Amino acid sequence: MSDYFKVNSSNGSYGVRIGYELLDIKSEKIARQIIICDQLFASTYQALGLKVIGIEASENAKSLDRMGDVIIALRKLGANRTTKILAVGGGVIQDIATFVASVYMRGLKWDYMPTTLLGMVDSCIGGKSSINVGSYKNLIGNFYPPQNIVVDLQFVGTLNTEQKAAGLFEAVKICFAHTNDAFERYLTLHPDTESASEKFHVAIELSLVTKRWFIEIDEYDQKERLLLNFGHTFGHAIEGSCDYSIPHGIAVGLGMLTAIEFAQLNGHFTELPVRVAQLRHYVLGLMTCIKDLSLWAQKIVLSELMDRFCADKKHSDTQYMLIVPNSSGYLVRLALEKNTTNSEMLSQAFRTVCTNAAK
Ligand SMILES: NC(=O)c1ccc[n+]([C@@H]2O[C@H](COP(=O)([O-])OP(=O)(O)OC[C@H]3O[C@@H](n4cnc5c(N)ncnc54)[C@H](O)[C@@H]3O)[C@@H](O)[C@H]2O)c1
Repeated sequence: MSDYFKVNSSNGSYGVRIGYELLDIKSEKIARQIIICDQLFASTYQALGLKVIGIEASENAKSLDRMGDVIIALRKLGANRTTKILAVGGGVIQDIATFVASVYMRGLKWDYMPTTLLGMVDSCIGGKSSINVGSYKNLIGNFYPPQNIVVDLQFVGTLNTEQKAAGLFEAVKICFAHTNDAFERYLTLHPDTESASEKFHVAIELSLVTKRWFIEIDEYDQKERLLLNFGHTFGHAIEGSCDYSIPHGIAVGLGMLTAIEFAQLNGHFTELPVRVAQLRHYVLGLMTCIKDLSLWAQKIVLSELMDRFCADKKHSDTQYMLIVPNSSGYLVRLALEKNTTNSEMLSQAFRTVCTNAAK
């Protein structure tokens, strides 16, 4: 596996570099860019005299009614059609930068340096923006990939256990979703929150190269790429129902457990297929490292879970659209009729997973 690879998209191909100190932040090139970054890094970049828009990374910050502030800030910093943006941060900053870069003066070029493990293993490629509207998470968005992605492993060093676990849930999901040997390679590597930086390096490459297959074959989420939503419809309901006390990646971990629970209740299998059992074991193992999990999970309002689940944009008028494991342990898309029996089964799966998490 190389430290540089390209991703093809209808907007042209873009490059991903993985390593240490790959970006010379003091260069003239960066001085000409406008940096949209996590508030965490804003003062460091401001001290270097760079043009900076610092944003606190929260779900509230990526809501539609906050986009105007970022656009005005760009204008005040003199952004014109030739300006290039550099986004530095996790998934929240990426979602904002993607959206704003795509609409500002009908589109500015941009580069991205992910600083969370979730951003490094998953969201940095694929070009999606997802913006919240009111209480609806990720309701609107578009596809507008950056030109260059720089994964600087130095940032892994400042992440806490929960932030690392959040990224690992997305990474294992991607490898599990593929039918090649990516999942076996992932399990052999077995990254955890205590892993050395070299292991994270390998996990990031494995996850991104595996995700590349999905986004190149199905850039606009029509078929194969939909499998990467595994854990998300359940996960979004979980994170929303505790007012985002549970971080996104960890909610996806709980969402995968809920999907597995539901598949069993729905009779896809009586005993877990081997690869599903392996995934569940790995996910549960990571969950034990998250010291605040039960505290966060106690904030889940169980009665809200189904309402939030039903509000997900992926469902049709008559069917729930789910990604679940089949009897061979591979992911499939399931269109499930909306009726009382199925709703009760979904509620039960949520209850089992959320109650266990709250213990
Ligand atoms: N567009 C996509 O393709 C896509 C994919 C997955 C997730 N998402 C979205 O991404 C968001 C979650 O993103 P995330 O998990 O990357 O985190 P985040 O951007 O929400 O940040 C989480 C926390 O980590 C902090 N942080 C960031 N970098 C750090 C560093 N190097 N050291 C220490 N702390 C750091 C942030 O300040 C914040 O407190 C969700 O809103 C989710 O919907 C988008």
